[in-house]
Amino acid sequence: MGILEKMRLDGKAAFVTGGARGIGKSIATALAEAGADVAIVDLDIEEAQRTAEELRVLGRQAIAVKTDVTSPADVGAMMEEIIASFGKLDIAFCNAGICINAPASEMTYEQWSKVIDINLSGVFLTAQAAGKQMLKQGHGGSIITTASMSAHIVNIPQPQCSYNASKAGVIQLTKSLAVEWAEQGIRVNSISPGYIGTELILNSPALTSLIEQWNAMSPMRRMGRPDELQAIAVYLAGDASSFATGGDFIIDGAFTCV
Ligand code: NAI
Repeated sequence: MGILEKMRLDGKAAFVTGGARGIGKSIATALAEAGADVAIVDLDIEEAQRTAEELRVLGRQAIAVKTDVTSPADVGAMMEEIIASFGKLDIAFCNAGICINAPASEMTYEQWSKVIDINLSGVFLTAQAAGKQMLKQGHGGSIITTASMSAHIVNIPQPQCSYNASKAGVIQLTKSLAVEWAEQGIRVNSISPGYIGTELILNSPALTSLIEQWNAMSPMRRMGRPDELQAIAVYLAGDASSFATGGDFIIDGAFTCV
């Protein structure tokens, strides 16, 4: 089989959490373009429905599933809906995440917990649900998590200790699942993007005012775009990456090199 054929995802079923917009939407689009049916899993059901509609235009099955990734009950119902629609699950992209910027000395416990709950516990719950389903099916699968360059460096000047800690946790969680499920053919990898121009940044005046400063620190002198993460996601989702598991793939324009 040629390499481009190995990159195809025809006949596979996927879910993407935080898939309504931003990085999740871009990756859901890429998975659908490569041939997969995709469930858009998000808190924001209206936006998720619009995204699913766009994917159906590509000729794939796409559903929107309202889910809070921090709720075990929601995640259980999400898996049931996906199996009822697609009959199986081959690819899980556990991506939903938020950032709260506050100095450590002033961060409230609620602010701390919200970030850890969504970014780390939400990834655990959704990856666990995917892994259980894949174990039951018995023919492996691919789980991809979104970590961040913030798992590797401490971003400045904005304070974000809970975000950085949550993303470092995502990488070690990813490695742990990869080891536990390696023999069953379930591969688990993370991607660690640098700054990407999405609503997570563009909706926050405090962050948009820092873009020039970040660009000056970056060897490529710019942020990334969501579409620049599509190829790594398609690679990790399918058979082309059959020996890749427990890896973290940094896509950051060399930001973390300097
Ligand atoms: P975004 O804010 O544009 O999109 C996040 C999506 O997640 C939204 O659709 C939101 O409704 C959904 N979401 C939030 N909380 C949820 C919950 N509890 N349950 C279900 N869905 C929920 O953010 P973006 O930039 O697309 O980020 C996606 C992931 O990439 C996050 O994990 C983020 O930490 C990570 N990341 C983002 C970077 C960036 O510079 N934008 C850089 C590195 C990592």
